[in-house]
Amino acid sequence: MAEFIPVPPFDLVVFGATGDLALRKLFPSLLHRFLDGQIPPQSRIIGAARSPMDAEAFRKLVHDSRLKFAPGACGEEAQCAEFLRRIDYVQVDASAPTSEWGGLAAALKQGANPVRIFYLSTAPSLFVTIAQRLGETGLATPTSRIVLEKPIGRDLASSRAINDGVAQVFDENRTFRIDHYLGKETVQNLLVLRFANMLIEPIWSRATIDHVQITVAEELGVEGRGDYYDKSGALRDMVQNHILQLLCLVALESPNSVDADAIRTEKLKVLSALRRIDAADAVLKTVRGQYRAGLVAGNPARAYAEEIGRTSRTETFVAVKAEVDNWRWAGVPFYLRTGKRMGARRSEIVVQFKDTPVQMFGAGGAPNKLVMRLQPDEGVHLWLNVKEPGPGGLRVKSVPLNLSFADAFTLRYPDAYERLLMDVVRGNLSLFMRRDEVDAAWGWADALLAAWDEVGGEPYGYAAGSNGPTQSALLMDRDGRAWWDPE
Ligand code: BG6
Repeated sequence: MAEFIPVPPFDLVVFGATGDLALRKLFPSLLHRFLDGQIPPQSRIIGAARSPMDAEAFRKLVHDSRLKFAPGACGEEAQCAEFLRRIDYVQVDASAPTSEWGGLAAALKQGANPVRIFYLSTAPSLFVTIAQRLGETGLATPTSRIVLEKPIGRDLASSRAINDGVAQVFDENRTFRIDHYLGKETVQNLLVLRFANMLIEPIWSRATIDHVQITVAEELGVEGRGDYYDKSGALRDMVQNHILQLLCLVALESPNSVDADAIRTEKLKVLSALRRIDAADAVLKTVRGQYRAGLVAGNPARAYAEEIGRTSRTETFVAVKAEVDNWRWAGVPFYLRTGKRMGARRSEIVVQFKDTPVQMFGAGGAPNKLVMRLQPDEGVHLWLNVKEPGPGGLRVKSVPLNLSFADAFTLRYPDAYERLLMDVVRGNLSLFMRRDEVDAAWGWADALLAAWDEVGGEPYGYAAGSNGPTQSALLMDRDGRAWWDPE
């Protein structure tokens, strides 16, 4: 079992408790923390949603989703049954007047714990209303915390409106904005790799690095989320948050400590240095794509338009050449790419170093590359040039020095939400986005969205199961580079 830090007893109210995220991620993550003994016995977990049902029916829902999403979690069923007993359910319509919030008030009144958390796993359009109701009913105490799931709005203006509304009830230091990528073990490892190894930081700049690639490829399509996704698209859904956060962790200066504000201030500096992309640049530096029918992992996959049941101009793939205008990164492009229905699920950061100034061994080999594999097959691979064994001649070959985390650590990799939920209970904001970070990321994304509007046109088609539209390869090719797409 992994080591963990004990947390105080807590009351956690999950709004949107019957939704996909809560059932797929939040409850299974809480179950794992419970099984490891991290959840103190007095703690209570209260599901809140609009559907009329009693606690028993809700427990059954959680139980069934546990069987689906965390099938092997419980060695003994009795442990799972014990976890389910901690769970209560309250029917509440978030937009109903305060007079209808009595059920939740009654549930929270009995045996209140020192830490009270409200987790909003709902549409962002409900964030402000729920926060206000919590204020009006007095359920939000001066120490209560609120957790906001992404997306925080759909542009800078709507994100500001949400943050302003929530701030009327919850201070910034009690507001936990989730970007679940920050809870992934391998993403946190980026900081450790960079700042706990003397080897890396001195070569981490334009002096030695040619460019950086960040790829988050998914096999999944939009599944049942077409209504949300079609209004969002890949830029808002993945780039504005997850991918920019990854970029920040690769590019940030050394924080003075692991203190939340020290790290978040450095991330903000990177976001502020991201060059805005205008209409003229959008044509050269970005590619939008949308999947057509194809084969993903050998299975036929429908086109996006067919999945959502109408034609659409929403992008399901984006490639962007981003630039960070500061001393460390001037002239080092960050190529960002994400897409649904691609050939394989793969999240990876590739740091490509410059070639040696002189090629004294002739052709052969390749510039060094540090490949940080975030998921799946988590690990770090450093590609070095070595002499190919053999008596005749001297041939240079590029081979990887492989560090597979599965081989190095035999522990189960916890889901990102396990760590993040317990960090909320501990009051640790390091892995949550500060308001100014979200604003800066939206500022950059808004400019690109406006540029795309000005340019017009449709996303390029790409076959499901491919690496995206050919224009994405051309974006790199124009710069004399290529995406790292190992077979
Ligand atoms: C979510 C997006 O934030 O992240 C989804 O809304 C996406 O569209 C998901 O599928 C990817 O997360 P993960 O952890 O599976 O890489």
